[in-house]
Amino acid sequence: MLPVRARARRAGVKARDVKGLLPLMVLMVIVYLLLLLWENELTEDVMLTSIEHLHVDYPQNTAPLRYCNYMILQRVIREPNHTCKKLHVFIHERPQKINSVCTSSKKKSCPNYSEIFCFQSETRFRMTVCQLIDGTRYPACRYHISPIEGFILVTCDDLGPVNFQGYIE
Ligand SMILES: *[C@@H]1O[C@H](CO)[C@@H](O)[C@H](O)[C@H]1NC(C)=O
Ligand SMILES: *[C@@H]1O[C@H](CO)[C@@H](O)[C@H](O)[C@H]1NC(C)=O
Repeated sequence: MLPVRARARRAGVKARDVKGLLPLMVLMVIVYLLLLLWENELTEDVMLTSIEHLHVDYPQNTAPLRYCNYMILQRVIREPNHTCKKLHVFIHERPQKINSVCTSSKKKSCPNYSEIFCFQSETRFRMTVCQLIDGTRYPACRYHISPIEGFILVTCDDLGPVNFQGYIE
């Protein structure tokens, strides 16, 4: 008699244990799904940031005069060997508009890498061209400012723009 009852009680306890674990398991699944989602968003951010960080200033920073000198320092724009970049372009359009260039019907070979395809924007974008006038080693670089409007050229992959390749006025 006693062994049977003891076994029954033990079985009951086990069943309750599993039921108690259920909310925890649901929680773990939710956390796992959230982590997956978060990771996806993270990679998307990284895809956008390189071109956004280097070339997109929207709405345009109100750095008074010396816009280029200020922005080149703020964004740490320099050659890999820490010399001053000769030319740099900031685009003053919203990031979504820049992303949409990748669906443009205007495709042509890139000006500097003719074996790669560039997408050209269908409308003119507002930009500032910064041209080096003085300095060789970053951060001692001084730039001339030219506000322009032109068609931008970018390379794209499945997720959007990858590199800014130039512009056509
Ligand atoms: C640094 O890199 C730039 C661009 O790649 C190149 O034009 C320049 O000659 C290099 N300067 C030195 C000192 O290596
Ligand atoms: C492309 O080539 C032009 C000269 O032909 C140069 O001024 C410009 O910096 C180059 N652009 C890139 C992204 O290498």
